[in-house]
Amino acid sequence: MSSVSRPRWLRRLLLIVGAFATVLLLSVGGCVTWVYHSAVVSTVGSTDFSNELAIPPLAQSRIREDGTRVFELDMRSGRREFRPGQATETWGFNGDYLGPTLRARRGERVEVEVRNKLSEPSTVHWHGMHLPAAMDGGPHQMVQAGGIWTPQWTVDQPAATLWYHPHPHGATEQHVRRGLAGMFLLDDEVSEGLSLPKNYGVDDLPVIVQDVKFRGNQLDSSHGIFRDIGFLGDRTMVNGTLTPYRNVGDELVRLRLLNASTARVYTFGFADDRRFSLVATDGGLLERPVALDRVRLSPGERAEIVVRVRPGERTVLRSTKLDAGLDFWAQRFAGGDDSFDILELRAAPTLRPSPEMPVALAHPSTPDGSDSVTERNFELQLSGINGKPMAMDRIDFTVTKGTAETWTVHNSDGMPHNFHIHDVQFRVLELDGAPPPDALTGPKDTIFLPPNARAKIALRFDGPADPNSPYMYHCHLLWHEDQGMMGQFAVVEPGQSAGTPAHNQSHH
Ligand code: C2O
Ligand code: CU
Ligand code: CU
Repeated sequence: MSSVSRPRWLRRLLLIVGAFATVLLLSVGGCVTWVYHSAVVSTVGSTDFSNELAIPPLAQSRIREDGTRVFELDMRSGRREFRPGQATETWGFNGDYLGPTLRARRGERVEVEVRNKLSEPSTVHWHGMHLPAAMDGGPHQMVQAGGIWTPQWTVDQPAATLWYHPHPHGATEQHVRRGLAGMFLLDDEVSEGLSLPKNYGVDDLPVIVQDVKFRGNQLDSSHGIFRDIGFLGDRTMVNGTLTPYRNVGDELVRLRLLNASTARVYTFGFADDRRFSLVATDGGLLERPVALDRVRLSPGERAEIVVRVRPGERTVLRSTKLDAGLDFWAQRFAGGDDSFDILELRAAPTLRPSPEMPVALAHPSTPDGSDSVTERNFELQLSGINGKPMAMDRIDFTVTKGTAETWTVHNSDGMPHNFHIHDVQFRVLELDGAPPPDALTGPKDTIFLPPNARAKIALRFDGPADPNSPYMYHCHLLWHEDQGMMGQFAVVEPGQSAGTPAHNQSHH
């Protein structure tokens, strides 16, 4: 039947419906366009670097008669004026926001008295540390509100920039966002013998980078539309300082970069594209310094870089757009189009001469895959790793103490993820079928995997065995981890099978 035969009222109705549909489509389209355009943020060129960079204090410790170095960490709530006159509610270790830098030497026995003075349970995990699973501070080592937990272990790994943060299953993003994070530096004979800048807070600076957003005086933690990556802030802080600058008095400055953000990936470099030397990654020193002009860090990753400054100059550490082959949608909504002025270094008019950079740094400490006894595959999806969301009472597999394995990790999801493993440092054997880029040749505990990326890594499990206490592997985009993008493995003696995860509840 033709429209000519439709009664006039029907034609009129169709016309009105059509008009409505058009308006609706245009406004939905308009909204999406608006959301797309407003999803990009940049602080490049508009940052005034008005605040002196805070340096987290080195944690005090005492040595017990048996030689154990004992630290104390109190988790508590507080208030911090990130902006003058505007107090923000925060959480911190031994203070209002972030925590002191713990420092220990290879071979030392350490103990940390962790007191939870918050009003809810939490944990403290030693990210990057090789230690018994029951001391790891993962979701099975909850510290009740008002409780105390005193893990002990012997430091037995190369010098490195590690860190600590809470790990309560389902709430890690919020606990870290509120300010619970700090650095844990390890030294050894090798690091002490090298002519690298090593005067903490002077020519060796901790650089804990976090993105934040304020709503009124308070930290905003809402995710925003299309942010399936998790929380993204609209500005950055270093060591809890907004728009920071730091005066430096040495020709060479070492920056220990830690991405302590919950979801954001940074591509660090300098505003004038100057080159710097990458000397260490997550688990410690590279074999030799690598000259780069950019280094990319996804949440949880670290890089130690050494940069040369000229007398009297100012130079800006900047994070530029992400170049990881993301499609235009993921690129925008995962923060890939964002850029930030992170930290300004202000060099004194006359600088103390620094010794030449060493040519060789450390011998590799991670396995090369040739003695791997097992191969495993991991498929990363927001809905779970290998199709299964995290379950506290399910140990996904066991590894045999003293053996090496080769793992292939594939991101088969449409969004960026990364992959972090507790207890071990690994070597990247291949990235997308090719030898890894220079920046990924050092010891790693976390690796960035944009959509479709595939990494082959080798790792060794030195123990001790404990079938009842699992270690975690997970995406370190913390909201993804909270959603269940995590699994558990236990280190066992040959032939032993996994037990039941023990919940080491803290005592009061
Ligand atoms: Cu930095 Cu399982 O975490
Ligand atoms: Cu960890
Ligand atoms: Cu993820």
